[in-house]
Amino acid sequence: MHETPEPQDGHNKIPKGWLLFFFGCIIFLVGYIVSYTPAISGWSFYHNFEKEMAVASKTEKPNAVKEYTGDKEAIREGKEIFATTCAPCHNADAKGGIGPDLTTVNLKYGSARKDLYESIAKGRPNGMPSFLPQIGSEKSSKMVAFLETLRKK
Ligand code: HEC
Repeated sequence: MHETPEPQDGHNKIPKGWLLFFFGCIIFLVGYIVSYTPAISGWSFYHNFEKEMAVASKTEKPNAVKEYTGDKEAIREGKEIFATTCAPCHNADAKGGIGPDLTTVNLKYGSARKDLYESIAKGRPNGMPSFLPQIGSEKSSKMVAFLETLRKK
């Protein structure tokens, strides 16, 4: 056996602290697995994600089109932005160039306010850039009001 002079009592016993820690880990692990297993607790990454997205879409509301129809000041501003930002592709009279004629009622992606806004804000696949980062929702909405004045009745 040991040749050391000190008493070697309790050599085979695990210190209490370690035991507590060991069982603590097991309890934690079981709890963790139970609470994060969808079949047991109903927890789901996708549900949480959907909830977060729902909240986000509510707070994103400021990005939706604002009502400027008929607002002369807004229309004038929209017209100015059109001349500098949109005319290179849609032509100064908006009758089309690289981009399509915007004075018709039957636009490919829709002519309702929200459709126009979406075309401007998010862009369209065949060469229409997204303008929200550049001109923001306020000006995009004024642009919509301006485009509405171009329509042939
Ligand atoms: C780089 C050229 C370019 C610029 C700049 C541009 N557009 Fe466009 N735009 C296009 C093209 C190309 C399309 C057609 C996209 C498609 O068919 O998918 C288009 C489509 C659109 C549509 C949808 C038309 C439809 O048929 O439904 C709208 C509305 C529109 N543009 C408005 C604007 C406005 C407002 C601006 C300025 C803020 C602007 N565009 C700036 C090229 C441009």
